[in-house]
Parts: sequence; C-alpha cells; structure tokens
Amino acid sequence: MAGQFRIKSMDAEAQGDFFALAREIFPKASVKLEKNDEVLLAYDKKMAVGFVHLRPKTDYFYLQGIGVRPECRKQGLGRALLQMAFAKTTARFGKNGLALRVNASNAEAVRFYLSAGFSLDKFSERVWMLRWKPLN
Ligand SMILES: CC(C)(COP(=O)(O)OP(=O)(O)OC[C@H]1O[C@@H](n2cnc3c(N)ncnc32)[C@H](O)[C@@H]1OP(=O)(O)O)[C@@H](O)C(=O)NCCC(=O)NCCS
Repeated sequence: MAGQFRIKSMDAEAQGDFFALAREIFPKASVKLEKNDEVLLAYDKKMAVGFVHLRPKTDYFYLQGIGVRPECRKQGLGRALLQMAFAKTTARFGKNGLALRVNASNAEAVRFYLSAGFSLDKFSERVWMLRWKPLN
C-alpha cells in the first residue's frame, strides 16, 4: 500500500470526519452509528480518505460499509482497511468471522471482496451475502 495513508480507530472527535466521508461516498444511504459500532478511518495527512464500519452482532461482525475516496482507490487502501477489520474480527469473534451484503450489480466491490477471501454465503437476484472466516 502507498505509505502515505494512516489508519486509526475512530474516536469521538473523528465522528464528523466519518459522517462527512460516508455521505460523500454513499450519498443515497442513511449512515447511522450505533453505540457499539467500530470504525477504522484512513487519513492522507489530515484528510479522511477511507473507512470501514463494523457492527457487532451476537457472534460475528457485520460490515456495514467500506469506502475509499475515488482519487485514492486502486492503491491498496481498501485492502488494508479490510485486513485491519479481519484482525479485529478474529480477535473478538474467533472463527465466526465477518459478513456483509453487497449489491450483485456492484461488480467492482464484489470482485474486491472475493479476491480478499470472502465467499458467497447466501444470495438473491440483487443482493449477495458474503462471509469471511479466518483460515485457522
Ligand atoms: C470497493 C472499494 C472500497 C475498494 O477500495 P480500493 O482502495 O480501491 O481497494 P484496493 O486498492 O485495495 O483494491 C482494489 C483493486 O485495485 C487493485 N489495486 C491495488 N493496488 C493497485 C495498484 N497500485 N495499481 C492498480 N491496481 C491496484 C487491487 O488488486 C484490487 O483489484 P481486485 O478488486 O481485482 O482485487 C472502493 O472501490 C470504493 O470505495 N467503492 C465505492 C464504495 C463501495 O462500493 N463500497 C463497497 C460496497 S459497501
């Protein structure tokens, strides 16, 4: 990954950065933060440029969203955010892993998740449920 990005766990002060970025990348979505959610934010200098948003369920994490600013894509940042999400998932939930839903029409995101080690869990015509589990 290009070394200029710094990834850190979001604290209360950085919530504004998260909402601004999430709304910019997902203008149609209503982005909500619940009390136990965890967010990793990536910065390029002082600008937030990427995030991954995790919501704890009973025994696994649900990936609410992941996004990288268009001008910072295809430099490995999305993958780096996912790797940190995997580490958090394994530490907290062991082998139960991480699940997400993605629109089947979002080919770039589907390819990104499959190449990062997710596999298809359930699907309907428009929405796929993918799951990642640690190897051991
Ligand atoms: C999906 C998303 C988060 C990926 O972020 P990203 O930072 O571009 O991800 P990466 O750079 O780690 O990897 C993306 C691709 O670029 C490739 N790539 C990585 N570094 C590269 C480089 N230096 N040169 C060329 N390609 C590169 C990767 O191999 C990967 O290809 P693959 O998908 O075929 O495996 C980003 O495209 C995005 O924000 N999309 C809009 C929001 C969205 O759809 N989110 C997912 C649904 S919730």
